[in-house]
Amino acid sequence: MASAGESAGSDGHSVPAPTSTTEAQPRKAKAQETLDKLDYVVPPTATSVATFSVVVIRARQFDVWATEFLDAHPDGATVLHLACGLDSRALRLNWNKSTRWIDVDLPDVAALRRQVVPLDEIPADRPTLVIMEGLALYLDPADVESLLKRVCDRFPTGQIVLDSVGAWYKRSQSLIRDVSRTGALVKFTIDQAGEIERLHDKLKVRDQMRVWQIPSCEILPLPVRIFFWVQSWIPGLTSFSTEFRCDF
Ligand SMILES: C[S@@+](CC[C@H](N)C(=O)[O-])C[C@H]1O[C@@H](n2cnc3c(N)ncnc32)[C@H](O)[C@@H]1O
Repeated sequence: MASAGESAGSDGHSVPAPTSTTEAQPRKAKAQETLDKLDYVVPPTATSVATFSVVVIRARQFDVWATEFLDAHPDGATVLHLACGLDSRALRLNWNKSTRWIDVDLPDVAALRRQVVPLDEIPADRPTLVIMEGLALYLDPADVESLLKRVCDRFPTGQIVLDSVGAWYKRSQSLIRDVSRTGALVKFTIDQAGEIERLHDKLKVRDQMRVWQIPSCEILPLPVRIFFWVQSWIPGLTSFSTEFRCDF
């Protein structure tokens, strides 16, 4: 993890509007504009509707938690968006000029984002929100522990939001084509909140949301909601995809 870019803020904080069809159109156009710049054609079978649904409402929930953090720190905060990929969260959310927003990803991904900023060079003078969406599950457990330790030791106070999958997902991943065909390997899993809190003394789980508990689930197609509902009743599968908000 090495490369980052710091963005300029905009005035005021507000939770982004829920995704109605009308409001989704400009975002779809923005997504298409990004794809056009990359000269990349998304194959029609790129991902299943269930996986796509998890990613969409996970992003929505992380937007809500990030907005709540920004609202709680109107005098300024640091947002450290780890493994941001091409996520446009810094553009989607409203944040004021006293907030510092840093997007971080691997050098080739972050080539678009100009600067190289090691974690130790990020100022620790403000409450800090660290967003790790779609990252921890692909790291070695020792690397997750080391990363969380570096964050908790470096910044005096803040929150970390991250997502995880359960142990059964790791065992069955070769059967789950959406991820396995990309070549990505799931290495780190969490079934219970206590597993995160054991990684660092300062970490306290404030919220744990199974994917089927996220309020935005109502926007998903009915078959996906039924799929989630069935999962919610099968012991061992309830931790299929979980979002965590932790204080430190
Ligand atoms: C599944 S994508 C998630 C992207 C984004 N957070 C989202 O939810 O749309 C995983 C991202 O992690 C990045 N990544 C993987 N290992 C990393 C590392 N060691 N340091 C920083 N980024 C890393 C990849 O380049 C990729 O952009």
